[in-house]
Amino acid sequence: MNKSIVILISGRGSNMEALLKSRLPCRVAAVISNKADAEGLNIAQSHGIPTAVVSHRDHPDRVSFDTALAGVIDGFRPDFVILAGFMRILTEGFVNRYKGRLINIHPSLLPAYGGLDTHERALHDGVKIHGCTVHFVTPDLDHGPIIIQAAVPVLCHDTPQTLAKRVLHEEHRIYPQAIRWLCRNQIELNEDGRVILRHRKQVGHALISPSLE
Ligand code: GAR
Repeated sequence: MNKSIVILISGRGSNMEALLKSRLPCRVAAVISNKADAEGLNIAQSHGIPTAVVSHRDHPDRVSFDTALAGVIDGFRPDFVILAGFMRILTEGFVNRYKGRLINIHPSLLPAYGGLDTHERALHDGVKIHGCTVHFVTPDLDHGPIIIQAAVPVLCHDTPQTLAKRVLHEEHRIYPQAIRWLCRNQIELNEDGRVILRHRKQVGHALISPSLE
């Protein structure tokens, strides 16, 4: 295991937990939260992972918070920085510092529904397929080269909560897969800034929603 990662969280930490339980081919050097009461910190500690808190409230602006955060991250010398429900908008300087090494998971099929309240907005629009995305972070919020996505059907009686639960289940499957590919050097960015998976057969099935008769 010659690669290492640092995971950033802000709350519940279920994606972080999914990563910790996935026997990744890398060392999880630390879990860092911007909130001292994030439930995910206890989960990380129960897995024996070092934790740290860098509170955004201790800093007057985004630049000083991001500088402090980067200082703590760099102390662990990670290869990749993994955002797992980290709910702070990061400055361009921070994003550029970790160019090609900063990964995020977002609860929608990007580029649709960047930002907040993704499930409510998908339901409001009446889309029949929704999902989640793992992508490289670029200074453009919720954009950046896509590594993997999972699609789920939107069911007619869905509420934001039931839809969120179905999407989260897939988040917990695709995030470990993406990190595994990264740590095994199986991911490359082509000259157009798109993700290419090395040595991978392309197979897949259509998700049709509602299903055909
Ligand atoms: C997840 O659904 C994640 O995709 C989302 O926050 C949730 C965190 O849950 N992230 C974003 O919305 C980032 N824009 P978790 O703390 O249980 O992993």
